[in-house]
Amino acid sequence: MWGGRFAAGPAAIMTEINASIRFDQKLYRQDIRGSKAHCAMLVRQGLISAAEGKKIQGGLDTILREIEAGKFKIDPALEDIHMHVEARLSDLIGKPAGRLHTARSRNDQVATDFRLWVRDAIDKIDAGLKDLQLTLLRRAEDYADTVMPGFTHLQAAQPVTFGHHLMAYVEMVGRDRSRLNDARARLNESPLGAAALAGTSLPIDRDSTAKELGFARPMANSLDAVADRDYALEFLSAASICAVHLSRLAEEIVIWTSAQFRFVSLSDAFTTGSSIMPQKRNPDAAELVRGKVGRIVGSLNALLITMKGLPMTYGKDMQEDKEPTFDAVENLELCIAATAGMIADLKANKPRMQDAAGEGYTTATDLADWCVRKLDMPFRQAHHVAGSLVRLAETQDKPLEALTLAEMQSVEKRISKDVFAVLGVQNSVKSRVSYGGTAPANVKKQVARWRKLLDAE
Ligand code: ARG
Repeated sequence: MWGGRFAAGPAAIMTEINASIRFDQKLYRQDIRGSKAHCAMLVRQGLISAAEGKKIQGGLDTILREIEAGKFKIDPALEDIHMHVEARLSDLIGKPAGRLHTARSRNDQVATDFRLWVRDAIDKIDAGLKDLQLTLLRRAEDYADTVMPGFTHLQAAQPVTFGHHLMAYVEMVGRDRSRLNDARARLNESPLGAAALAGTSLPIDRDSTAKELGFARPMANSLDAVADRDYALEFLSAASICAVHLSRLAEEIVIWTSAQFRFVSLSDAFTTGSSIMPQKRNPDAAELVRGKVGRIVGSLNALLITMKGLPMTYGKDMQEDKEPTFDAVENLELCIAATAGMIADLKANKPRMQDAAGEGYTTATDLADWCVRKLDMPFRQAHHVAGSLVRLAETQDKPLEALTLAEMQSVEKRISKDVFAVLGVQNSVKSRVSYGGTAPANVKKQVARWRKLLDAE
C-alpha cells in the first residue's frame, strides 16, 4: 500500500507486532458498510465515476458474502481488516479498487468502523439488559410478599421482601442502560472524511456519509476525529459499572445458595457438580459473573493507560483499543445472559428466608418506632428502650417476641401488649409503606411501573 517509499520489506517480527487482523477482523461488517457509504458519496461528488462506483459496490458486496461464508483468506502481511478488504477488492475488480481510498485514510476509517462496532455492541447489550430487567421483574412479582432479612455489613438489619431486593437490581440495571445510551448518543458522530488528520482538499460531503451510517452529524474537528477513543473508554466505564452490579448480585447468589444460608437454590441448568463430593451443587455461573468483572474493569484500565499521554493525533498505540473492548463486550454479554438465566429459574426457600428474617433481632427498629408512635417518645430514647430489650432477650437466648409483657414493662412500664404485633416480620415489612420502602404493596406498584416503562420502549 505504500511500496513507493520503501526499498525493503518489513522484518518478520515487524509484521507480527504490527498486524491487527487476528482481532480486528471482527470489524469487517462495519468496515464494508463504511466503505460503501464512502464510495456512494465519492460518486455523488463526481470524485469517481458511476461505473467505478458500481464495480466497487459490487466487489464489497461479494467480499461481505465471502467473509460471512468463511471463505475469506487472512494474511498477516496485510496487517488489518481495512487492507484485507481493499486487497481483495483489487483482486476482484482490478483498477477501480484503488479509487475507493480517495479522500480517506485508515485513520478515519478505523475510527469510523470502531464507532460503528461499539454502537452495535451497545445496542446488543442494551437489549440483553432489558431482558434481564424483565426477568427480574417477573421474579420480583413472584416474591413480592416473600420476607427475607435485609443486611447491612452482612449483619441482619431489618426484614425486607425478596421482591424488593430483586427490584433494587432492576433500578441499577436501568441506570446501566441509561449510562450506555448516554455514551451512545455522544459517540454517534462520524469521523469519516477527517482523512489522515487534517481533512482533505477534495470536495467530499461528510454530512451525507454521516447520515448514511446513522450518525447524527460529522465530527467537527478532523484531529479530534482520528485521535480520540473516549467513546470506547466511556463505553467501557459504563460496562464496568454494569459488570460491578452483576457481580454483586452474583456474590449474593453464591452466599444465598450456601448450606449456611439456604435462601435460594439454582436450577440444575445453572449449577455444576463435583467430581469427588457427590453432594455438591456449585454456583459456577454466579462465580464466573463475579469473576469476569475483573477482566472487564481490566479492559477499561488497559485502554485508559494506552490513551494516557498520547500526543495528537493517531498513534499506533491506538490499535490496542480493540482487544480489550472486544473482550469486555463478549464477557459482559455472557454475564448478562447467565444472570438472566440464573434469576429466571432460581427457587426461593420461603420458610427458610422468613425464619432468617426474624433472626438477629431484626424488628428492634419496629419496636423503637412503636415507642415513638404510641408513647410519643423521642427516637433516641426509643432506641435505648429497644436496645435494652434486645439485651434482655439476648441474655435469655430468645427472640424479642418471646419476652413476656412483664419483662418488657420492666424496661419501659408504658409498653402494652399490642407491641407484639410489630415484632412479627410480616407486619414489619407490611408497615414499610413510605415511598420506595419494602412493603409488598409498594413492590407490586414498582413492578407495574417498570413493566409499563419497559413495554413503552
Ligand atoms: N490497524 C490500525 C488500527 O487499528 C488501522 C489504522 C492504521 N493507521 C495508520 N496510520 N497506520 O489502528
